[in-house]
Amino acid sequence: MIRGSILIVLLMAGPVAAAEREPTPAERGQRALETTAFIKGFWPKSSYDNAWKIWGLKEKPADYAAKFRDRYGLHEAPYENDGYPMGLRKADLLLGKGLGIDCMTCHGGSIFGKSVVGLGNHALDIEALFEEMAAAANSPAKVPFAFTNVRGTTEAGPFAVYLLGYRTDDLALTPLYRDLGLHDDSCEDTPAWWLLKKKKTMYHLGATDARSVRSLMQFMMHPLTTPSEFKKAEPQFRDVQKYLLSLESPKYPFAFDAKKAEGGQKLFAANCAKCHGTYGDTPTYPDRIVPLDEIGTDRKKFESLEPKFAKAYSKSWFAKESTGSWFFPRYPMRETEGYQAPPLDGIWATGPYFHNGSAPTLDGVLNSRARPKMFTRSYRTDEADFDRDKVGWKVTEVPAPKASDEAIERRKVYDTTKPGRGNGGHTYGDKLTAEERAAVIEYLKTL
Ligand code: HEC
Ligand code: HEC
Repeated sequence: MIRGSILIVLLMAGPVAAAEREPTPAERGQRALETTAFIKGFWPKSSYDNAWKIWGLKEKPADYAAKFRDRYGLHEAPYENDGYPMGLRKADLLLGKGLGIDCMTCHGGSIFGKSVVGLGNHALDIEALFEEMAAAANSPAKVPFAFTNVRGTTEAGPFAVYLLGYRTDDLALTPLYRDLGLHDDSCEDTPAWWLLKKKKTMYHLGATDARSVRSLMQFMMHPLTTPSEFKKAEPQFRDVQKYLLSLESPKYPFAFDAKKAEGGQKLFAANCAKCHGTYGDTPTYPDRIVPLDEIGTDRKKFESLEPKFAKAYSKSWFAKESTGSWFFPRYPMRETEGYQAPPLDGIWATGPYFHNGSAPTLDGVLNSRARPKMFTRSYRTDEADFDRDKVGWKVTEVPAPKASDEAIERRKVYDTTKPGRGNGGHTYGDKLTAEERAAVIEYLKTL
């Protein structure tokens, strides 16, 4: 009897002690990301309830939350989020509380209908979200440049270029706008956060030191954010970075042919590893940036980062972070010649591919002639939407959209003849036979 109760006490002590243990920096970072409005709000809360009025409907749909997520390409929050979809968050307005976006608007994706923090959100139409949430509040606010040209991509880089234009080096607001080279045709695909831990340099151009914490804070440049708020948030962002570095890629959930994958691994070692590294127990990653003319993928994203922005960034608070070294005390932006060859961990889940999302499947990545030119997809992430043979998203080839089509519909068509959306280049798989390509794809499933 007594022994029994001691056992019960011991069993009870276990979980209590675990709950009281100090959270690790990564756990603190996760909590900060899931609970903190680092970016100030844009809309009153009523915008969420009223957005359907902009959709041309007579009454509010019964399954409103799901319809709302579908329209803008948002996903259910896998954490407590006041009933809002992942990527929409309660946040301060000039007066009172409203709603805004957060990191997961773009970095909270979904695969097989399951939300995954850290997977890029390749369903998002952030242009529609901003336009319609403002319209639902009867606000005349217009987006100052195209936030999205094609659904699934964003103009994330231009956000930084635009917003830094209104800040001094110390991030004080200034009414004197500096044009730091604003372009809005880079059509950026959001990379998966779990790749960060392998990188020495980050972002598609590899122009920023991957250890930089302050660079992750650029989205805080909402006009209501004061310079002291950036400083206050820096320790939290240090934890957020630790969280990002702790993330692991999801495993391919279906069976694969181990023998075929083994053949694929040999082909990968011979044709791909020098840029994308090796995988397995002792992985290597060369962190290679491939010159634009050599890689041959679309140039716009590269060209949209003008030296005058790089210079302004490098003089600003963002680059003045202490690195703990007297020799290289800061993280300035450096000039690069092209795009960084990314690590390929979890690559099966991160389609569409390339920095502009112009190749919907791995089959297209490995065969430049097989890439579709004008296509749409469901923008859903269920098993039925996934192409298991080609690995990536099922697409339908369609004719060019008409100017008379609604903008939200036009953005569902990926037109590779448009600026920023070229699908050429990266021809390294072209010389392989169909059988060899299939073997490489089988291997890629295992990463
Ligand atoms: C509007 C969409 C959007 C939002 C919001 C956003 N990001 Fe990103 N993020 C991107 C895109 C697109 C890229 C790729 C840009 C590039 O490489 O030039 C990126 C790149 C990154 C990278 C580099 C990844 C790599 O492997 O190179 C990190 C880290 C990152 N974002 C963290 C954050 C954090 C933290 C927040 C919130 C404070 C955030 N992002 C908010 C779209 C967004
Ligand atoms: C000379 C260097 C180089 C070689 C060789 C190379 N790649 Fe790449 N790869 C790149 C670069 C750079 C990118 C990014 C291009 C862009 O986004 O515009 C890339 C992109 C990719 C992507 C898309 C990544 C993503 O997240 O969207 C995949 C998949 C890929 N490569 C697979 C392969 C395979 C498989 C091989 C071998 C058959 C290979 N690559 C050979 C440099 C290389």
